[in-house]
Parts: sequence; C-alpha cells; structure tokens
Amino acid sequence: MTDASSTPATAADDLVAEIGRLEDDARARVAAATTVGEVRAVETDTIGKRSALNALRKRLGSLDADGRRTVGKVLHGATEAVAAAVAERRAVLEAAERTEQLLAERLDLTEVLPGRPAGHLHLVTQAIQDLEDVFVGMGFTVAEGPEVETDWHNFGALNFPPDHPARDEYDTLYVNYRERGSTLLRTHTSPVQVRVMTGTPPPYYAVMPGRVFRSDTADATHMPVFHQIEGLVVDRDITFADLAGTIDAFTKAYFGGDFTSRLRASYFPFTEPSAEFDIQRPDGTWLELGGCGMVHPNVLTNCGLDPDEWQGFAFGFGIDRLAAARHGVDDLRDLFTNDIRFLTQF
Ligand code: PHE
Repeated sequence: MTDASSTPATAADDLVAEIGRLEDDARARVAAATTVGEVRAVETDTIGKRSALNALRKRLGSLDADGRRTVGKVLHGATEAVAAAVAERRAVLEAAERTEQLLAERLDLTEVLPGRPAGHLHLVTQAIQDLEDVFVGMGFTVAEGPEVETDWHNFGALNFPPDHPARDEYDTLYVNYRERGSTLLRTHTSPVQVRVMTGTPPPYYAVMPGRVFRSDTADATHMPVFHQIEGLVVDRDITFADLAGTIDAFTKAYFGGDFTSRLRASYFPFTEPSAEFDIQRPDGTWLELGGCGMVHPNVLTNCGLDPDEWQGFAFGFGIDRLAAARHGVDDLRDLFTNDIRFLTQF
C-alpha cells in the first residue's frame, strides 16, 4: 500500500520544511537572547547533541540516497547558519557585558579639576586672605613668625619688664623646653614685630597674620587658640596722625566706605601712646577691634634701631571674632569643631 506522504520525495520535502521551521525558530531565539548565558543555552537547545535539529539526522536513514544527500546538505547548512548566528550574537553581548562591567567596576580617581566642586577655604583663612589683600593694596608686605616663641620676643623685647603684671593678662602657655619660662606659645602676633625689626633694616610697612595661644576656656566669645593680624610701620617722621589715618583707611577699605573708626586711650607696654580702636557700623553701633599705638622707643632700641632716627606705629586685632561677626556666627566654637554641615555654609 502506498501513501503520498510516505513517498521518498515527499518525506524529504517534509524534512526540509521541518528543518526550515527549526532553523527559523532557532534564529529567533538567538536574536532574542539578552545575555551570553542565554545564547549558550539557546545554542545547546537548538543545535546541540539533544536538539531537535540533530535528532533529524536519524531520520535521514529512512530516505533514499538522493534524499539523504539533499536533506543532509540542508540540515548541515541550517546547523551552520544557526551556529554563525550564535557566534555573532555572543560577540555582541560579550562586548556589551564587558563595557558594563568596566563601568561598574570603575573607580573615580579623578583629581580636583577646574570647575569641579572641591571644598573651599575655611572662614578664618578667607578672612586672613581678605585682610592681607586690603593691606597689600595699601602698600604693606606680609610677614610671618614662629608660633613657639622665646620669652624675649613675646615679652622682653616688647618692653614687658620681668614679673610685670601686664604679663599676667596674657594667660601664657609655656613650653617645657630649655630654661623654665624661656619658651612659650606666642600670646599675640606682636613678637613678629620684633622678628621683622631684627631681621632686616628699616623702613617697614608690614602686616603679620597668625595663630596665637592663651590658656583660656573656650566659650562663645573666647578660644584658647585664635588668630590675630599685626601691623607695623617704621620709617622716618611717622606720627600718630599716620596711625589714625591708616586705621581709618583700612576700616573703609575692608568694611566699606560707610564705616568709621575711633581711637580710645589705652595701655600696652610696647606702644606709647597706646590706644584701643573701634569701628562704627552704618547703623551707629560700635565694634571693639584691637589695640594700637606708637612703637615704644625702648622696643626700637631693643631691636637695634635708633629711636631718634626711626619712628613708627603698630596695631593688632583679632580675626576670628571679626569673621564670625561678618557672617552672623554667634559662637566662636562653631568655627573650629569642623562640622562639615556648618563649614559648607561659607
Ligand atoms: N598685641 C596686643 C594684644 O594682643 C595688640 C596690640 C598690637 C596693641 C600692636 C598695640 C600694638 O592685645
């Protein structure tokens, strides 16, 4: 008995058609694979040993020689085509996965670049730089001295007699070095005046910012470590009027043209006459800023200068309170606890 579907030619056509379907299905699955792992699974499934395509091989035996050759060729071609599609898809996905992995594992080792936010200077450092800028604009140079000083630079050369009560006002922190009482943390920036005057010949027009130390308990308006800026002018024929004029010019340059300054008689061992200086805000209120006066002749002599030839004035004031007042900070301690949430505001 013969059946149309069982004639060799029809059986071969059926197989070719089925190979075509399997190949189309395999290509679609390869194209749909989204990972290298999926491609590998699809490969095993579609052209591997246990795949439907491979199983067709066994049915070649039921064909005549012609059919075997024809269908065998088609089957081989389909398997090769799927293998090629697999290889291509795998290459694409491997490249994508490599890129993704590189991005995921990338460490940002970028250095600070222009235009990239990178922190900023501390409020007090900003104030020091602003003050330096103003004084440099007025013709001053900037000088520095050591924070650990000798008793002579901090007191002796500045005309503090030994055991004089004025020393007690400075709550000195002594350093355990050499002779007892010989070495200390500078209590003001005035010793830098001595460093300047003993370092190079006059004239001097210098400002000296820096850190100073006093054994104070920290509270809203005091810190045991704070900052001052010192000014020193020594030249021929320098008068008290030059001092007052310089203080006022500075006040207007730093705070604004609508600020004024005043001097009140005071006492410092290293200046004579001495004064405190205050500035007046546009709203009429006064802010006590610092001390000043004509450099005492004894100080000039102690530094090797002839007071008959050279005269000068000096001034000094605290920077921290100034910076705090300017930015509405009402507790000095906030400036130095280094809480980033506080610091980033300025
Ligand atoms: N050194 C003084 C202080 O710390 C301030 C001052 C400086 C006064 C210069 C006069 C001249 O109080």
